[in-house]
Amino acid sequence: MFSIDLAADARLFPLEIWHAEEFLAHMDRGREYIGEHIQLPDFVTDLDSARAFLSAYAQKTAADGGRLYGIRVDGKLVGGVLFRIFEAETGNCEVGCWLEPAAAGRGLVTAACRILIDWALRERGMHRVEWRASSANHKSLATAGRLGMKREAVLRENYLHRGVRQDTEIWAVLASEWPEPAGR
Ligand SMILES: CC(C)(COP(=O)(O)OP(=O)(O)OC[C@H]1O[C@@H](n2cnc3c(N)ncnc32)[C@H](O)[C@@H]1OP(=O)(O)O)[C@@H](O)C(=O)NCCC(=O)NCCS
Repeated sequence: MFSIDLAADARLFPLEIWHAEEFLAHMDRGREYIGEHIQLPDFVTDLDSARAFLSAYAQKTAADGGRLYGIRVDGKLVGGVLFRIFEAETGNCEVGCWLEPAAAGRGLVTAACRILIDWALRERGMHRVEWRASSANHKSLATAGRLGMKREAVLRENYLHRGVRQDTEIWAVLASEWPEPAGR
């Protein structure tokens, strides 16, 4: 399997349909924590729905419209990062992320998103990378800030999650704001 090191024990790799069983097991371990602010665990409840989610991203990847990557720690799938939206023609994309609780608090998602954003802005020539999160999702908003994104807007009460209407914050970084790699 092709993968990129995030830390001595952690790797980033393309998450594909054939990972459905371990994806479901990971989602079961993190269901409560991950589902506090996002719907992903509600879409992945059994093997068929796990396959359907992974298959949808395989199709997005084939159309250059989105991508999905897993994060392993000591070989175990503990989370992921994704291009939820990728529009090469407009230069706009959106990244997202999740972790099961045991893997949080180590900077893994920050490191993984840096790799995605770097690829989008430098290799693919994208112009803008967006981040959307509930105003109540302080951990996610802190990650957006850590990535050097700027808070741009609040969509008031646009997001109905588990019966409660939430505000969504939009953060973004532009290609002109993304730092050069160290040593250049
Ligand atoms: C959002 C989420 C992925 C953030 O996880 P995270 O581990 O806090 O994210 P990061 O990778 O940015 O790590 C930052 C944490 O690691 C710590 N850290 C340790 N080493 C670090 C390093 N080298 N670099 C950056 N942070 C580091 C930071 O201090 C911070 O911990 P703190 O919040 O206790 O201060 C996680 O809370 C989650 O999965 N939530 C549920 C799903 C979700 O809401 N997803 C977001 C949808 S918008």
